Amino acid sequence: MQPKRLSWTFLGQMAGLLFVVSLLSTAHAQYYGGAYDGNQKDAPINVSSYPADIQHAYKTFRYTCSECHTLARAFDETSTPATAKHWVEVMQAKPAADFSDKQAQEIIKFLNYYHAHPPEAAW
Ligand code: HEC
Repeated sequence: MQPKRLSWTFLGQMAGLLFVVSLLSTAHAQYYGGAYDGNQKDAPINVSSYPADIQHAYKTFRYTCSECHTLARAFDETSTPATAKHWVEVMQAKPAADFSDKQAQEIIKFLNYYHAHPPEAAW
């Protein structure tokens, strides 16, 4: 029957449209902000008011702690000196981790400073 054939065509078109829309919204979430922060290397925090050595430590942190997960994750559980030290040591012990004791100390110093002086525009 003619209307039935038409409605199957219509359903097929709608399914196709839904598929395209879902692809577009994924791309949108991925590239234009929103909840998905991917593996971004650059934490959008302003460290320009931090002392020079902490700014340097921030670079080490940003590079090292974004290698396997987001920086958001690295900030998550490191808000006290004890947890910062704990997690940096846990990360350093991972077989794929590639940073020195000196860099670990720098990163802990940065995390402690960061959590004691939260930047104005948190991300
Ligand atoms: C070699 C890969 C690797 C590197 C480099 C790395 N991490 Fe991780 N990180 C992981 C994995 C994998 C997990 C998941 C938990 C686990 O396996 O211990 C994790 C989990 C964490 C967690 C726990 C968060 C939660 O979900 O509870 C914190 C905090 C953390 N990482 C901080 C850091 C910091 C800070 C650095 C930089 C010094 C860092 N990570 C570098 C692999 C890494």
